[in-house]
Amino acid sequence: MTTKYIKQAAQAIKNGKLVVFPTETVYGIGANALDAQAVLQIFAAKGRPADNPLIVHIANLKQLSQITQGELCEIERGLIERFWPGPLTLILPKAADVPDAVTAGLTTVAVRMPDHEVAQNLILEAGTPVAAPSANISGRPSPTSDQDLDPRLLEKVEVVIPAGKTKFGLESTVVQVKEEKIHILRPGAITEEDLLEIAPVFIPNPDTSTSPASPGMKYRHYAPDSKLILFEYDDQNHFITKMQEYLREHNSSRIGVICAEEFIYQFPEAGRVVSLGHLKSPPTIASSLFQVLNSLDAFKQEVFLVHGVPEQGLGKAIMNRMRKAVGKN
Ligand code: TXA
Ligand code: MG
Repeated sequence: MTTKYIKQAAQAIKNGKLVVFPTETVYGIGANALDAQAVLQIFAAKGRPADNPLIVHIANLKQLSQITQGELCEIERGLIERFWPGPLTLILPKAADVPDAVTAGLTTVAVRMPDHEVAQNLILEAGTPVAAPSANISGRPSPTSDQDLDPRLLEKVEVVIPAGKTKFGLESTVVQVKEEKIHILRPGAITEEDLLEIAPVFIPNPDTSTSPASPGMKYRHYAPDSKLILFEYDDQNHFITKMQEYLREHNSSRIGVICAEEFIYQFPEAGRVVSLGHLKSPPTIASSLFQVLNSLDAFKQEVFLVHGVPEQGLGKAIMNRMRKAVGKN
């Protein structure tokens, strides 16, 4: 069945149309990366600002040399050997053939090789690198299951390849190697600790950096319609007391709580309690965060309270997405 969808989707890409396909991180909405007209349709379908460049997905290193120019440095080669295929996006000098529509006029292009059989076969069958952002309307949570795809977006695509839940549920880590250091432009499924195996890591401060590290980072993101209040994590678990106080002081039956599995019995008065996965296991939280955010509006609560997680390992990417979802930077 999937083979049939892949064939149809590959043909649609060759014809300059849009497709939705799974990757190991989130679903992508893709088009032929070398066809400017096709790529512009992605921006229109998502309502994406034109100054936010796209990631180009490749299936092999031959396609890497098709869209980039110059020699890779030792650190870049190390990253590719260690993490590709996988959820790591590299920023590299772009080849002339890559349209400005893809890179928002930048001289660099974002590239990754997804670790998902369907995505790889689609790219191979289409015979071209595939430009694809996450398959959500701009500003909304990314889809981590075909069940969460937005009908308003699906109207605009030719073929959807359904493949259940994605593995990581959080987007790729975007990095650029500069002066012998790995700069993390967007935290993601590959952690700082993972990258340190290859070279020193630098995290640009978006507040002091003159140009936004990764153009997309300046926009509000991942937000459901439901109002969200974030209680920052502290290891004394004070955040639980603060959430309980909030419930006591407000009409708690209209208030939802999103919390780690370990705490679901702490909020009996809440109108709805949604589990985020196990605090002890950050991958379970990473893989359910967007699914939870995508499910909230159906519960029709006045507001949802959510607590943070320790900012270590995957916790950094989780907190980056949570803060954006509640409208903080
Ligand atoms: O896991 C993922 O990365 C998913 C799947 C579909 O591959 N894709 C994804 O794409 O998250 P998107 O468009 O939602 O995010 C791309 C990020 C944005 O923050 C964008 O600004 C940044 O990559 N980016 C793209 N090209 C860039 C460039 N040349 N320089 C710096 N940042 C760039
Ligand atoms: Mg996105």
